[in-house]
Amino acid sequence: MSAFLGQSVFITGAGQGIGYALCSAFAQAGAWVGLNDLDPDLAQQATDAINASIGQARVSAVPCDVADTFALEQAFQGWVAQHGRLDVVIANAGITDYGTFLQTTPADFDRVTGVNLRGSYFTAQYAARQMVAQGRGGRILLMSSVVGLRAHRNLTAYGATKAGIAHMATLLALELGEHGITVNALAPGATLTERTLQDDPQYAENWASVSMNRRCGTVEDVVNAALFLASPASGHITAQTLVVDGGWTGHSPLATNHPDLPIGR
Ligand SMILES: NC(=O)c1ccc[n+]([C@@H]2O[C@H](COP(=O)([O-])OP(=O)(O)OC[C@H]3O[C@@H](n4cnc5c(N)ncnc54)[C@H](O)[C@@H]3O)[C@@H](O)[C@H]2O)c1
Repeated sequence: MSAFLGQSVFITGAGQGIGYALCSAFAQAGAWVGLNDLDPDLAQQATDAINASIGQARVSAVPCDVADTFALEQAFQGWVAQHGRLDVVIANAGITDYGTFLQTTPADFDRVTGVNLRGSYFTAQYAARQMVAQGRGGRILLMSSVVGLRAHRNLTAYGATKAGIAHMATLLALELGEHGITVNALAPGATLTERTLQDDPQYAENWASVSMNRRCGTVEDVVNAALFLASPASGHITAQTLVVDGGWTGHSPLATNHPDLPIGR
């Protein structure tokens, strides 16, 4: 597949998990990929692994902290100087901080909003400035979550950032539409990654049991949605949040012990 041949794609938070799978898929589809991560060693290892697996040096490590706007802008400028263009950006970097609302500290709050909201906002801004200057349009994808759509205990700050990111896609789509830039968000449900498996060894089985399609999400599920939203086929789709969750958010669980049918029916 060479659907993105010669395109320049920049993906944040991509040393592992969903971001890594996104970089691998865009590189296999012929793109030049800037693989960002906070951890420089992880970014380089991920880059080397993808390049080795596809047999071509299509991916470059671009490490920095997305919450550090100065470093992020430098990273973008370096990437664009190297490739002369930017076609797709995916603001994927995000951290999941569990904690009760009553005990969350201002430092906890700033950490999660700094990466998730500030990082996504300025990733989109630096990308959009380049895309507007090029005059050829572009694709911006933001990474929301089903936690931005449905309440989860102990994820208040995280969920607020993900709801904000989904609405940010709508707001940016309005400002950038006249430049031929589409802006959409992806909202994955429970997705099996190194991190989620480490948090819960039964993660896949547990989430399969509450998904309409009876399976847990995979990184490929998110990748397939991203490839579509970054492709010419989705040119008239903007300001949307695409939920990739096997139907989980569409399901309203019954109260415990509620019968499936009233007695006698
Ligand atoms: N896995 C899921 O179930 C799931 C569900 C919904 C949404 N998401 C979202 O998808 C995105 C990726 O999730 P994942 O599960 O692959 O995450 P992950 O934790 O496995 O990987 C995230 C990567 O981002 C990097 N990172 C963290 N802070 C950074 C920063 N400040 N700057 C640059 N890089 C940074 C980490 O080093 C890590 O390599 C996140 O935005 C997450 O909120 C994930």
